[in-house]
Amino acid sequence: MENIKANTVIVGSGVAGLICALTLPSSMKVILLTKQKLEDSNSYLAQGGIAVKNGFGDKDSFISDTLKAGHYKNNFKAVETLVEESPKAIKSLEELGVKFESEEGDYSYTREGGHSKNRILYCGDFTGKAIMNALIAQVKERKNIRILEDCTMEDLLVKNGVCYGVYGVANNKGLFINGKSTVIASGGIGGIYNNTTNYKHIQGDGVALALKHNIKLKDLSYIQIHPTALYENTRKRRFLISESVRGEGAILLNKNKDRFIDELKPRDIVSKAIIREMEKDKVEFQWLRMNLIEKDIRTRFPKIYEYLRKIGLNPYIDDIPIVPAQHYTMGGIEVNLNGETSMPGLFAIGEASCTGVHGKNRLASNSLLESVVFSKKTADFIKNITKEEVNINDFQIGVSNLEKKKDIIKEGIKNDEFTKIKLLNNR
Ligand code: SIN
Repeated sequence: MENIKANTVIVGSGVAGLICALTLPSSMKVILLTKQKLEDSNSYLAQGGIAVKNGFGDKDSFISDTLKAGHYKNNFKAVETLVEESPKAIKSLEELGVKFESEEGDYSYTREGGHSKNRILYCGDFTGKAIMNALIAQVKERKNIRILEDCTMEDLLVKNGVCYGVYGVANNKGLFINGKSTVIASGGIGGIYNNTTNYKHIQGDGVALALKHNIKLKDLSYIQIHPTALYENTRKRRFLISESVRGEGAILLNKNKDRFIDELKPRDIVSKAIIREMEKDKVEFQWLRMNLIEKDIRTRFPKIYEYLRKIGLNPYIDDIPIVPAQHYTMGGIEVNLNGETSMPGLFAIGEASCTGVHGKNRLASNSLLESVVFSKKTADFIKNITKEEVNINDFQIGVSNLEKKKDIIKEGIKNDEFTKIKLLNNR
């Protein structure tokens, strides 16, 4: 058993976890643990982009699009903060080395469903990878950040209702990781679904421990279904065909090759329309026609092009079979805008958390933005936290069993939208 002491323990290495680690002052000792490698997060898979307030006149319209997509179940203060702080979030990413697409010195903006104007910055169709590679390079440079890869969070260290860190396991060895503050950034629950665009190992470990320790959750049944995952006859994670493909002109067609929906409606509406057509025609997928995109497909969407070609499809010629798939968890561990959970000492950020910013359905490309804006705020808040020293013998640790965790979460989401609309191949 190893005993590790830090100022802050961060669990998870997506954009949220890394931004939090990088925002903390270099005088603070940070332990960042991640279940696999630093790159193995859903943030890394993000294709489309990151939304930002596009000019002074855009504040109200960005807020209104976010609220409308979220069916007005959003926390208004969180939405206002997200939008107001979006330009600062972009600037901080650029300072960390991210380069967004631009043309003649001006940003290139793209569009996705639910946005009333082009306000999404992007890096090809691999925005998540571009951001993550920049952040990973930075965390590896920081002397105050110790990274523990292949380390699972098995339990929280809790004494008298206060969180003092995490019990982790790496190489079959137990680790008591004690921190003045503990930040859960372990992502959503997508991995428990069969039909998902998410990594299968990201299964809501933080949410399960919150359930175990009676930490408040919020809106766990708000599950987002992305309209256009590539249909392949396999049980692996589904490959995403970014919504920005439709933003750039692709259209949806049913079995008879008829158009049936405005492709740029918010995701939940488009997904439901696709599922309706699938059920009506008793088919397992619908079609996406990409060859109407004005830009050159291969240049604008290189990764998607490459993947499609690998499996024998040519988007310049072929219609692409698509199916809706679980994509994002709007709910999670309930937090305020400083990331505080209902347990003192414990914070949550990113997809594991729920500020209420997304309401019932997240507006496209608001998740990377949320991770940057609220992780920065959380880091600024926790840097001032002090706490008494504790002795590891004070904690009773229950090593959790992954299958059991899944059952706990499944019980928590039994009324989710995803199940209600009877999506094929669901969990
Ligand atoms: C996409 O590129 O369609 C996904 C972006 C997101 O989840 O917001």
